[in-house]
Amino acid sequence: MLSKAVDLREVLQRMRALLVVGWRGTDNFRMQLHDARAGYGWLTIGLHWAAAIAVIMLWFIGNQMTAANTPADEYASLVRVHTSVAVTVYALLLYRVFRRLHIGFPGRSADQPRPLFRIARVVHHALLFCILMMLFSGPLAVWSGGDTIGFFSFAEIASPFAADEALHELLEATHRTFAKISFVVFLIHVAGAFRQILLSRGETSNRMIVATEGEPD
Ligand code: HEM
Ligand code: HEM
Repeated sequence: MLSKAVDLREVLQRMRALLVVGWRGTDNFRMQLHDARAGYGWLTIGLHWAAAIAVIMLWFIGNQMTAANTPADEYASLVRVHTSVAVTVYALLLYRVFRRLHIGFPGRSADQPRPLFRIARVVHHALLFCILMMLFSGPLAVWSGGDTIGFFSFAEIASPFAADEALHELLEATHRTFAKISFVVFLIHVAGAFRQILLSRGETSNRMIVATEGEPD
């Protein structure tokens, strides 16, 4: 009887300990949701990788559909896939860009030399600018060409303004040019991340994988 009572107390104590650990865990998670002074929080990390997958996917579909050997009917269906995916991730990408511009970037990590930190910031701003240019030139190019934006088989998003051939050409060229620029900047960005991992301690790269502990910025 006595041993049963002791067991029960132990069980209760363990449950309480688990609750305390769990509570601290959620508290830590809440703390780490937002960027720290010298690192990223889980929200940034989630947005970064979701946006990266979306942009890379749009870039591949875009290139495939405009490739010289893509037949006309395949071009049409790939454009629909491209615009459907783009519309789906539009708000996420826009939010991701303006959130970063609004809250700013965290500071340098301990192992990052100041000149490389500055170069990385220029590259990050260039990437954000490229996303914005792609997001604006894409739909405006479609609409100025007098077309609707196809969204899977659900909808056709009609143009709010009249077609304009000269504007259409300009916007299409803008979309094409920024697709190329963004790819080059992306390569520099990824090369920088891998240089960090291979030749440095990788601290700067790690902060885009695991949230940095510390006071929110
Ligand atoms: C970050 C977002 C985007 C990326 C990375 C992207 C990427 C690309 C790429 C690589 C191309 C091929 C360019 C070339 O001709 O060399 C392309 C074409 C195109 N994109 Fe996007 N795009 C994005 C957003 C959008 C949006 C939001 C729309 C419209 C809703 C759109 C509509 C189109 C259309 C219609 C074409 C075909 C243009 C043509 O035939 O020359 N794109 N895109
Ligand atoms: C496999 C691909 C990618 C890798 C390995 C990668 C890696 C990283 C790393 C390690 C950081 C933190 C660097 C620092 O704080 O100095 C970072 C930040 C950043 N990356 Fe990427 N990245 C990739 C794709 C992309 C893509 C496709 C974009 C946008 C088109 C992008 C835009 C950014 C931006 C704007 C930042 C600054 C922080 C933020 O606002 O999220 N990255 N990336």
